[in-house]
Amino acid sequence: MPAELIDQLAASDAEPMLAVSLPPACYRDPDVQEDEVVGIFRNGWIGLGRSDIVAEPGSYAAMEIAAVPLILLRDQAGKLRCFANSCRHRGALLLQGQGSTRGIKCPFHGWNYRLDGTLAGAPRMETSPCFDKSGNGLVEFACGERAGFVFMSMDGSRNDLDDHLGEFEALHQPWPLASLITTRRRQLEVKCNWKIFLDVFNEYYHLTYVHADTLGGLYQEPDAGDLVEGAFASQFGETHGTGGLLENQQDHALPLMPGLEGRPARGTRYTWVFPNMTFAASTDAVWVYEAYPVAPDRCMVRQSICFPPETVALPDFEQQARRYYERFDAALDEDIEALEAQQKGLSSPYARQGRFQPHLEANVAAFARWYARHTAAFSLRSGRDL
Ligand code: FES
Ligand SMILES: [Fe+2]
Repeated sequence: MPAELIDQLAASDAEPMLAVSLPPACYRDPDVQEDEVVGIFRNGWIGLGRSDIVAEPGSYAAMEIAAVPLILLRDQAGKLRCFANSCRHRGALLLQGQGSTRGIKCPFHGWNYRLDGTLAGAPRMETSPCFDKSGNGLVEFACGERAGFVFMSMDGSRNDLDDHLGEFEALHQPWPLASLITTRRRQLEVKCNWKIFLDVFNEYYHLTYVHADTLGGLYQEPDAGDLVEGAFASQFGETHGTGGLLENQQDHALPLMPGLEGRPARGTRYTWVFPNMTFAASTDAVWVYEAYPVAPDRCMVRQSICFPPETVALPDFEQQARRYYERFDAALDEDIEALEAQQKGLSSPYARQGRFQPHLEANVAAFARWYARHTAAFSLRSGRDL
């Protein structure tokens, strides 16, 4: 199987006009999933969504990513930090949910940590010979904030975040991404592989079929996918009105984002930051999804919907925003129905790799190429069979 899979992956690394989708095994095989967890999610930069989930010093959010419990927090100096959510005494979970705190106290035996991860106190441990608090701080991961998004890496810092992202910030310059406010968050489990969730968000091909009565008519023929440096793919297309509202609600569009002008003010940019975070930057709103593997045929998805502070300050914002949430929920429901059916079809022993429509599936083809290369490189580096 590994040799066959390597050959199949090579076909996904062809030039975009000739590329084919990833091998079906990548969407259903537990061994592949395990390798993705180790080789992708614990071995490089991943996206954790919008950084305003921990907006103020002392805010924290506990999350479980690729079976690793994590704490994301903002320390007293305003620096974003990410720690293993495992006490250095005997491993207990330190924090759950979200909140605000001045320190982290283990509920099991009371060891307590500062927000920079250093151990501040460990009750009764003064009688333990040679116990050194300075060697017992929390395990910390590399973590960074760019354009209002959080990125973290569990593998130390094999490569720099800015090298990983390349032209990401420059390409998104027209949108005031860093200052956007997240006004709605949702988390849900979807019965499909994490990659196909991200695939469908990024392609224009399904719009007139899956979203025929809701969104299909909003989108014009997109531009070609951008040729970019960095681990991401992006494609812009003009829209009839805003991509953030249903076709029949376009009269209720919120104001243009401040500073947005020219073509960016007439459409939506769909971006996939590899491996697991994607978003659409439209005229008035940005909607973001992250997908994380749970099982070969299940993923955890987090949604964030964001608007500029000027828009959030409008007196009728809450009421206006509800129409946007309705559009995202409607699209999500339609996509999920399609995805669950795709997952069943992909799980057939007779499923095969298929040719991409080069123009309408540009981001999906770009991810398949990145995945094929990344998987091969990781396999070589680690000496693992795929
Ligand atoms: S496990 Fe945390 S103090 Fe014991
Ligand atoms: Fe869709």
